[in-house]
Amino acid sequence: MVGGGVIFRVRRGGEAGDPQERYQTYAITPRPRMTVLDVLTSIQSEQDASLVFRYSCRVGMCGTCALRVNGRPRWACRTLITELGESVTLEPLANFPIIRDLAVDMTPFSDGLKRVRAWAEPTEAAASAPARIPPSSRERVRIDPHIECITCGICYSACSMLGHDPAFLGPAALNRAYTLVCDSRDAASAERLAEVSGEQGIWRCHSQFNCTEACPKGISPATAIQGLKRQAAASGAKSFVSSIIGGRAPGA
Ligand code: SF4
Ligand code: FES
Repeated sequence: MVGGGVIFRVRRGGEAGDPQERYQTYAITPRPRMTVLDVLTSIQSEQDASLVFRYSCRVGMCGTCALRVNGRPRWACRTLITELGESVTLEPLANFPIIRDLAVDMTPFSDGLKRVRAWAEPTEAAASAPARIPPSSRERVRIDPHIECITCGICYSACSMLGHDPAFLGPAALNRAYTLVCDSRDAASAERLAEVSGEQGIWRCHSQFNCTEACPKGISPATAIQGLKRQAAASGAKSFVSSIIGGRAPGA
């Protein structure tokens, strides 16, 4: 606190490398239970109307307010400023193209979801009648911890592999793929497994668990990726066996 206030250093400017890129400081007098999002809206309404950032729900449901607070990806609306130090640095999420100030372009993230076909493609049986999957079934128990993703991009920002290879599918898309590959009602699991097993898929992940540590929903994309690796290895083993039974040389 400086004179009872907190100093916020906010990244300003357009895309990375913009000659106008800079850190601008704003002094804020804290209010009880003030969040980082409250700080941003207060800067915008009282100090600098040109500040660009994104939010929608304000209550931890939409994920659009994600940014980096003192280097760590977090939801602005769920981060109390009392948890932070005397000087707070706000930056856009890492691993995304920057649009302006704190707003990023989510296109690479959405592309990853498209590449894994993140929508259910029901089997004929599932499309014609409601499927019954008991809560205690092995399938449901596997999928349950991975279904609450709100596509906020925090895990994507935390992933060190994406820093090396921007074409890597990333933790959220692979987490979603896992929920579908494990779902017996889904008809496209084989194609999805083939996509995630490619050059920029599961084998790129080095299991550092940065995504898991960062996810505000308590999801572990790294565990989902390990599950996909096991399934990919098992399906590879199956095709190896059938190639021998069919009298073909493996890989022929
Ligand atoms: S897995 Fe978690 S951190 Fe990643 S996009 Fe989903 S909710 Fe956000
Ligand atoms: S504004 Fe919706 S999660 Fe923060």
